[in-house]
Amino acid sequence: MIVIIDFGSQYNQLIARRVRECRVYCQILPPDVSIAHIRSLKPSGLILSGGPSSIYEENSPKADPEIFNLGIPVLGICYGMQFMADALGGTVKRAGKREYGFAELNISKAEGIFKGIDPKTISWMSHGDSIEAMPKGFEMTASTENTEIAAACHPEKKLYGLQFHPEVEHTPKGKDMLKNFLFDVCGCKKTWTMKSFAKEATAQIRETVGDKKIILGLSGGVDSSVTALLIHRAVGKNLTCIFVDNGLLRKNEAEKLKKTLTQNLDINIRFVDASEDFLKALAGVTDPEKKRKIIGKIFMDVFEAEAGKIKDAEFLGQGTLYPDIIESVSAFGGPTAVIKSHHNVGGLPKNMKLKLVEPLKYLFKDEVRALGKEIALPEELIWRQPFPGPGLAIRVLGEITKERLDILREVDAVLLEEIRNNGYYKKLWQSFAVLLPIKSVGVMGDQRTYENITAIRAVTSKDAMTADWARLPHKLLAHISNRIINEVRGVNRVVYDISSKPPSTIEWE
Ligand code: XMP
Repeated sequence: MIVIIDFGSQYNQLIARRVRECRVYCQILPPDVSIAHIRSLKPSGLILSGGPSSIYEENSPKADPEIFNLGIPVLGICYGMQFMADALGGTVKRAGKREYGFAELNISKAEGIFKGIDPKTISWMSHGDSIEAMPKGFEMTASTENTEIAAACHPEKKLYGLQFHPEVEHTPKGKDMLKNFLFDVCGCKKTWTMKSFAKEATAQIRETVGDKKIILGLSGGVDSSVTALLIHRAVGKNLTCIFVDNGLLRKNEAEKLKKTLTQNLDINIRFVDASEDFLKALAGVTDPEKKRKIIGKIFMDVFEAEAGKIKDAEFLGQGTLYPDIIESVSAFGGPTAVIKSHHNVGGLPKNMKLKLVEPLKYLFKDEVRALGKEIALPEELIWRQPFPGPGLAIRVLGEITKERLDILREVDAVLLEEIRNNGYYKKLWQSFAVLLPIKSVGVMGDQRTYENITAIRAVTSKDAMTADWARLPHKLLAHISNRIINEVRGVNRVVYDISSKPPSTIEWE
């Protein structure tokens, strides 16, 4: 495996993705990780990530310099290279000419991580500091017009530094450089496959849980479904899943999930219909954050009450993914404003004394889908678009009533049917309808109408951090609009949302 030390770069997850795409397992650790811990992981190499700090700033992140004495190769990227230079006796200075964006790289030594790479190639730079002198024993291996030391290496100690970012797409040969580092320099083997992961994870769950009981909250989304199936494979009927119907689901969603999950997978599932509790508590509430808090609290109450009926449960399974834990431990992420509080939803119930089992916590979303495929989760569960925990409550803008939820469910069902039938479901990150809290005038037959407006939202995205509105064909939009107004009573106007994120968000509330 490879250890990546996180100096706070916005690209550090990308480094991890690239390494795993090469079928090498890796973990991202904070700079203050102990040498003993790194040793215990027996990594074949270290990668030091970039970061926003200057090495000579007082509080800039530093790792223990002992990492250079572990006897394994180290690759420093951008700030990581500067840290390496500084720690081993070189000098780093604020650059006379800062360098952001594309730069032509002139490679003087096509060895080590530059093996097989053309002497002139494109690199992606993003730095305000530069290395003035590398420590003793290092040789310079590449430069750009503005940066004399754009790459350097210490061949005997196998220490490599790159001032540019090999992990981003803008460095076209970056992946080859990383491959050279992993396979030629570190001697890694391509052993990270979903098959091996599934086998190891199952064995580990079996060892942890043994013949004790484990509970899991199932939402029907891909993360909790994969977690359920994996745990089920390991401990069979000792797993009990709890599915809470909050009355805020899409049309026929609860029934469809019930069918897929119980018939195909033979997993113990308890279905709890708590829709009345949720709707009662939400009556009259219009503030989106209040809605989220109420839903989060009632979910916990219902879940705890149901879980309490399962005697001797000792463990709680959760479908936490790697990006969630990286975000929560990243030491230099800085305080980010709470835009929407959804990332707090779904934590461990405070009163429950259960031990957590999180088999997906080192996986990225696309790896979870690959794992789902590996363990034969039905396709329809693997490829479900994300659906927010608070469900339609944040899509019925303003006050929530059963009647308004039902209107939205009908609209949404028509939309999804068209999106699926026209081959867009998998191509879109999300597609859904929103019911607006205002009415507009229309004319149907010879009658004046004064009815609801619904908005259609369809976005493309890689990770929900940014999103763009989907350029659906006008013909399809026209057809969807026609069908909604004709088929759903109470709606006389359809609008299409053409805002991207940022500055908008994906959901309207
Ligand atoms: P926004 O609206 O913040 O959404 O651009 C980003 C992604 O998160 C989903 N989302 C939520 N998921 N609870 C959730 O579990 C929530 O409260 C929540 N709010 C938004 C949204 O559907 C999108 O995929």
